[in-house]
Amino acid sequence: MSDRTFEILPELESKIAEIIKQKFAIDIFAENFANSSGARKMAQAVLKLSDFFISAEAQPTPWEEPWCQLAYLSYYMILNEIRCRAVLQEAERTNYLSGVEQVTDFGAGLGAATYSLSKVLPSSTQYVHIEKALTAQTLHKNIFPADAKNSRWTDLPGVPAKNSLGVFSFSLNELSAFPEWILQFDRLMIIEPATSQQGRVLMENRKKLIERGFHIWAPCTHQEACPLLEKSKNDWCHDRVFFQQPEWFQAIENHLPIKNQTLTFSYLLAAKTPPPALKGMARITGDFLDEKGKSRQLVCRNSEREFLAWMHKNLPKKTEPQRIPRGAMIYWPSEFEQKSNEIRVTKEISILALDKKNPS
Ligand SMILES: C[S@@+](CC[C@H](N)C(=O)[O-])C[C@H]1O[C@@H](n2cnc3c(N)ncnc32)[C@H](O)[C@@H]1O
Repeated sequence: MSDRTFEILPELESKIAEIIKQKFAIDIFAENFANSSGARKMAQAVLKLSDFFISAEAQPTPWEEPWCQLAYLSYYMILNEIRCRAVLQEAERTNYLSGVEQVTDFGAGLGAATYSLSKVLPSSTQYVHIEKALTAQTLHKNIFPADAKNSRWTDLPGVPAKNSLGVFSFSLNELSAFPEWILQFDRLMIIEPATSQQGRVLMENRKKLIERGFHIWAPCTHQEACPLLEKSKNDWCHDRVFFQQPEWFQAIENHLPIKNQTLTFSYLLAAKTPPPALKGMARITGDFLDEKGKSRQLVCRNSEREFLAWMHKNLPKKTEPQRIPRGAMIYWPSEFEQKSNEIRVTKEISILALDKKNPS
């Protein structure tokens, strides 16, 4: 399995199955689940919430609706937990989380982010959950009852403790404006939907954070202006990982026009301290583009909007141009020819595996 492929964590899967059975009388592990009215009901709920998120950007999640609860439990929480886990793998590359003592999960929902974080942070870490929807709070406490001793709930973000991490997993976009209070955290982990609109807002927020003294640890490999923000009107930085779906999840998707075998997301890991120096690395920020006579992929190493390019005529016979996963970190090639914004390469580009530390 590729290092960019994720599976649902078995413990989370069984917790969710239990709550869905209790609350909605649907058994996702039943033999006939795929063709059951339960699977159809779940698919309808997922579609309704998807339409809601598309049509009502910056609107609070409608937690009071039972279909929203069902859709979140069975679908969105799982996908968001995987997205968080993928971002945390990026965090691990640089020891970004080292020394974090308190996590504030803003717009915690059912706890996708806290759950991922609890798997990589020490058990002494304190969690502060901020969630305005009481229904979400109740469900969250149902799923994770044992977490109570290290966590508390609050309505308003107070002054964060020392070594605090502010987490915003799909929640910053529900606020109408950039909240100044987030600048009080030592570190910020922000994940947003990979839409052009919300991805570009996140790139604007990156700029604000740098102006206010933060450093970006990932996905950027530099602190210069974002080339996708400054040199394009439509591009937005986003990552992609693969999801190995369990059977019951596939059964829901079989009733849906949307497919989530790959998960996209935009994210930022920021901190008041600078990241370790990074030399000779770049990030792939675009999908593989096959064009007449060449193939290209957007790559980011500074404020220039550049493409890695493979000229087909220069490829050895019967060789396909390399395809690099979007979001991958690469070693900058030692040999290339630069033509305008194209970095023309002939040798294979080395990719840093997702679970490997950045070279220092
Ligand atoms: C799309 S959900 C994301 C939930 C969770 N973080 C995740 O990744 O799955 C956004 C959450 O933010 C919460 N939220 C929005 N505005 C809020 C506010 N001002 N204070 C507290 N919670 C808020 C909503 O109730 C909702 O649960």
